[in-house]
Amino acid sequence: MKTNHVARTALALGLSASVAVAQGTACATVLVPTYSPPSVAAGWQAQLVAGGLTKPRSIEFDSTGALLVVESGKGVTRQTFTDNKGTCLIASQSTLLINDTTLNHGLALSVDGKTLYASSVKSVFAWDYDAKAGTVGAKPRTIVDNMSNTDLVTRTLLISKLKANTLIVSRGSADANEVKAETLSNGLSQIRAFDLSKLNATSDPFNYNTDGAVLGWGLRNSVGVGEHPITGGIYAVENSIDGVTRNGKDIHENNPGEELNFFGNLSVVNKDPPNYGYPKCFAVWNVTEIPQNDGLHIGSQFAVDEENLTDEKCNDKYVEPRLTLPAHYAPLDIKFDKEGSTAYVTFHGSFDKTNPVGYRVSSIAFDAKTGDPVAKANSTDFLTDILSNDAKSVCPGACFRPAGLAFDAAGRLWMTADSTGEIYVLEKLDGTPTATASGTIVTATGTAKNAAPAVRVGGWGLAGLVAVVGLALM
Ligand SMILES: *[C@@H]1O[C@H](CO)[C@@H](O)[C@H](O)[C@H]1NC(C)=O
Ligand SMILES: *[C@@H]1O[C@H](CO)[C@@H](O)[C@H](O)[C@H]1NC(C)=O
Ligand SMILES: *[C@@H]1O[C@H](CO)[C@@H](O)[C@H](O)[C@H]1NC(C)=O
Ligand SMILES: *[C@@H]1O[C@H](CO)[C@@H](O)[C@H](O)[C@H]1NC(C)=O
Ligand SMILES: *[C@@H]1O[C@H](CO)[C@@H](O)[C@H](O)[C@H]1NC(C)=O
Ligand SMILES: *[C@@H]1O[C@H](CO)[C@@H](O)[C@H](O)[C@H]1NC(C)=O
Ligand SMILES: *[C@@H]1O[C@H](CO)[C@@H](O)[C@H](O)[C@H]1NC(C)=O
Repeated sequence: MKTNHVARTALALGLSASVAVAQGTACATVLVPTYSPPSVAAGWQAQLVAGGLTKPRSIEFDSTGALLVVESGKGVTRQTFTDNKGTCLIASQSTLLINDTTLNHGLALSVDGKTLYASSVKSVFAWDYDAKAGTVGAKPRTIVDNMSNTDLVTRTLLISKLKANTLIVSRGSADANEVKAETLSNGLSQIRAFDLSKLNATSDPFNYNTDGAVLGWGLRNSVGVGEHPITGGIYAVENSIDGVTRNGKDIHENNPGEELNFFGNLSVVNKDPPNYGYPKCFAVWNVTEIPQNDGLHIGSQFAVDEENLTDEKCNDKYVEPRLTLPAHYAPLDIKFDKEGSTAYVTFHGSFDKTNPVGYRVSSIAFDAKTGDPVAKANSTDFLTDILSNDAKSVCPGACFRPAGLAFDAAGRLWMTADSTGEIYVLEKLDGTPTATASGTIVTATGTAKNAAPAVRVGGWGLAGLVAVVGLALM
């Protein structure tokens, strides 16, 4: 059952016996990334299944299993695949469902799947959606408006499963004028929830800045927002600032941390919404590089300028992250598995650091019952990498940059990589992964990263599957 060196030509032709055994039919079309393929965690298999998209960001599956993708600056496309099980999916059809170049990130479907929401920098729009026909109504309704600003332009959308008819919209800062985030009614750097049942066909859209319930503010750019499936707890991953100083000293290399913040669930409306510190206070990632760091620990709020605001005041006024994430990782999405025991986070990666960091999908363990992360607030070792780039020195130019995530009905995790225009599928294999084996990235060149020469991932033996392992990269 173990195939060490499968010839490249055989793989290219899809004739590998091992592949045929593994998946019933050969995975006839296996796409190869143009960069060094990423590494995969033990117990997982990953495969690139689509390329050539235009900056794909958020993704959602419709009720027929078609994948809806926001292609930033193009619109929403609907992608279908021939599913040969496992990670062997072959793109069959891509149609431009919504032709709107202003759409740039946010995407959500109503719980009944009949309304599609997508966002531009200014507005959230709603279309009637017919999943079977794969069509939208002629004209969208504007649901939320008045969100224009420069700098941070994504508007993440999430439809709550806990609270019916509720749409969560996350909006970042107008970075160049960050002081505006200190006034709640500017609607910047906050996450709001809107009760869609208050709208009818003719009513005006919500004004983002004054309507809805504020879940939290003082959030520079909480691009990823997720709802725990058991408790309904809302978590968001925050992209903190790039050029932080402390009392005039540049400490930006390893500070501040990115953040995983908690907002409670939607059944409790907070009349006095918590503030998470931006633009005054930030979360500590590297304590030792911060001057005058007495009393600071990982996650505590520090002031950039102690002359005018002390760390003590920062910690009194503002909420610490539930978990602090490494500086500059740039988290863009967070999705829970259906049991609520794991959250997956995409890290888009740094764009201007001397030593590039991020560029991975990682998991965070949660207590399914309480909906809390398992790790303590000051922990730094709670991320488990699932799919990651090895050669970070070539990033962000020559590697994938993870963006959106979605689970399909079979429990596979799908991921977009925006700068390379790609979609990956990740599958957690049955059985217990062995400590020594690593996972497999299926490519036409048969590369199994992290292992040589052959990889057998835990559970594969039982399932009778064989890793596709072949010759070196072209
Ligand atoms: C999308 O809309 C633009 C402008 O309205 C139009 O020029 C273009 O042909 C449309 N594209 C498709 C694929 O329909
Ligand atoms: C947009 O928000 C600003 C700031 O809160 C407010 O002054 C303005 O009236 C709003 N415009 C609309 C059309 O709601
Ligand atoms: C729609 O809602 C508005 C309030 O937002 C109300 O004034 C109007 O009467 C409603 N229209 C219908 C047809 O129910
Ligand atoms: C929502 O949060 C409230 C307050 O923490 C809690 O009492 C309630 O049980 C939560 N709802 C669910 C479904 O867990
Ligand atoms: C924190 O800073 C110290 C001192 O510069 C450095 O040695 C260490 O690698 C840094 N650790 C992290 C996680 O940034
Ligand atoms: C404190 O605030 C004042 C007034 O805004 C400002 O002039 C000064 O530069 C600030 N101190 C530091 C250390 O930034
Ligand atoms: C983290 O916090 C716990 C208390 O929750 C404490 O016991 C522990 O020493 C802290 N660890 C570090 C590294 O600060």
